[in-house]
Amino acid sequence: MNPEALDGLLRDVAPPLDQPELLALLKEAQALAGGALSPALQSRIAQAAGVPPSVVAALVRVTPSLKASACRHVITVCLGKGCRAHGAYPLLKAVQRTLGVATGQTTPDGRFRLTTRTCLKRCGAGPNLLVDGDLHTGVTPARLPAILSQYP
Ligand code: FES
Repeated sequence: MNPEALDGLLRDVAPPLDQPELLALLKEAQALAGGALSPALQSRIAQAAGVPPSVVAALVRVTPSLKASACRHVITVCLGKGCRAHGAYPLLKAVQRTLGVATGQTTPDGRFRLTTRTCLKRCGAGPNLLVDGDLHTGVTPARLPAILSQYP
């Protein structure tokens, strides 16, 4: 955590930023903030960058390397049409039950944060989930423990 450097970074922003510039700013801010972009920090960044807070929130949600709360791994369950047809909702329920969290929450030990997406571009192989940058296809609730154990 480096609050002075973070203040300086946001002070030096020259809005408006385009998306690649905003993404770079978010990554740098996350590093200076100790590994997570809290809702309050996301608001400050949106204001500094001259973009709506919803734009920053959406970028944080869809970029695996960005995290809204400190956690070691982000699990993203696909809820797109193709994955829903192959059991995405039962898979999501199993992930929620296994981790003991709702979508958008982080486990108390900070190990996992659970999110959802509407497509991971492997619709025919679903149900799919992403852990950090790793795509797992054809995931059944029975396979979950083996997958999760890869991410200590
Ligand atoms: S619907 Fe899940 S990968 Fe496209």
